[in-house]
Amino acid sequence: MKYVGAIDQGTSSTRFMIFNESGDIVAVNQKEHKQYYPQPGWVEHDPMEIWSCTCDVISACLKSSPISASDLSAVGITNQRETTLVWNAETGEPYYNAIVWNDTRTAPIAKSMEGKYGPDRFRAKTGLPLASYFSATKLSWLIDNVKGLKEDLKSGKAKFGTIDSWLMYNLTGGVNGGIHITSVCNASRTLLMNLGTLKWDDEILKALDIPKECLPKIVSNSEVYANGAKGGYLDGVPLAGILGDQQAAMFGQTCYAAGEVKSTYGTGNFVLMNTGKSQCPSTNGLLTTIGYKLGDEEVVYALEGAVAYCGSVIQWLRDNLKIIQDAPQSQTFAEKVDDNGGMYFVPAFAGLFAPRWRADARGCFVGMTAYNTRDHVCRAALEAAAYQCKEVVDAMIKDSGVNLTAMKVDGGMTANTLLMQFQADILDCPVYRPVIPETTALGAAYAAGLAVGVWSGLDEIKKQWQCDEQWESKMETSVREKYWMEWNRAVSKSLGWVD
Ligand code: G3P
Repeated sequence: MKYVGAIDQGTSSTRFMIFNESGDIVAVNQKEHKQYYPQPGWVEHDPMEIWSCTCDVISACLKSSPISASDLSAVGITNQRETTLVWNAETGEPYYNAIVWNDTRTAPIAKSMEGKYGPDRFRAKTGLPLASYFSATKLSWLIDNVKGLKEDLKSGKAKFGTIDSWLMYNLTGGVNGGIHITSVCNASRTLLMNLGTLKWDDEILKALDIPKECLPKIVSNSEVYANGAKGGYLDGVPLAGILGDQQAAMFGQTCYAAGEVKSTYGTGNFVLMNTGKSQCPSTNGLLTTIGYKLGDEEVVYALEGAVAYCGSVIQWLRDNLKIIQDAPQSQTFAEKVDDNGGMYFVPAFAGLFAPRWRADARGCFVGMTAYNTRDHVCRAALEAAAYQCKEVVDAMIKDSGVNLTAMKVDGGMTANTLLMQFQADILDCPVYRPVIPETTALGAAYAAGLAVGVWSGLDEIKKQWQCDEQWESKMETSVREKYWMEWNRAVSKSLGWVD
């Protein structure tokens, strides 16, 4: 039996998982890291804590499993995307905390760039609108706010990276020869890479005044990049796959044919459609992005709808409002009522991402009366996830011309069967959850395993996907239409709240 490991470094926690060649889970270990909120709208992570959590989960997972590191054929990495950091190559120390993807401090930078260049100035090249979400504005902020950083970036002393670069640098030895790379799908989220050439784009770098010397080398999603550093937890193990977490989920869900779609309900909600060998430009607020590139093979593109707040809304009900004690309780309470009792919740905590891209929106509850209870609040929060997903799917159908006949789902919130039923109802389309719901880590393991021959190709992997549960739409059309109209009214109330 062969084994492949996967490091899954997400927004709220880090996991290490070991899979066997049948795609079954052999062992897993997970650890949460601290979220820093220094100001409203700011979100930071400590890169050193992320690295130490990574070491901890690898070591604990290996200890709990029947195998040792030397039994691993390869290890893949999957990571929260866009989150940006810079570190000093001489000391291995970060200059500043990592600025997280959903941090909105750079909205004014994006706005001023928009004023200078127009909102879609770089869209044809990068597939992305100008928004605080992507790494470029975060790097600009760091350059403007960290003393001496610009000079260090120019001289090559300071390195820029997303979390994949940071982990790969440390896994391969850090200051003692650590490599500086990023995968092509992570690079596609920086706003600095040209989707056609798969290279850093000189015109954009010049416009944003970002020195090329600090950028990592762009590599494919599946190839042997290096072996784990001597003396480390993965000593000598081939590090052979890197995928941003949403692309990894699409890969793990085996969406290998153009038109196949997955929806992941994590911190945010991310819907990706494989669009094959051609880029599908969006005129409806979606992102054109890299799906995956396996070694020297041709790149596969994807269309993506990214929604910032999804599972994190349930965390907010638990930690801030304190109306539930754990995530499953959101379903228990929501099930006590037949519907949302007329109230809607728009979780625009970081403005609205796809397909609206409204940095001026803020969260709101609307339509409330004295009739409403905690149970309606829970229901409205769960329904918001399904409505936001539908907004993105509608845009995807318009952009791609492909009608959605089924959607594969994954992520923690797919355990919530009320949400899954409501999702099928509101989309009017069947929803399928796989037996292995950890498709993000599985996708990274598949990419790494493919590079070293654990699996012969995508056909073999595709056979491993099995459906665990499926939900069919049961809602009457007139009811769906009424709800949809009311949701859109609710969203209109959240817009224009801030400048
Ligand atoms: O683009 C942000 C995304 O990669 C974060 O994913 O799973 O950490 O919510 P997740």
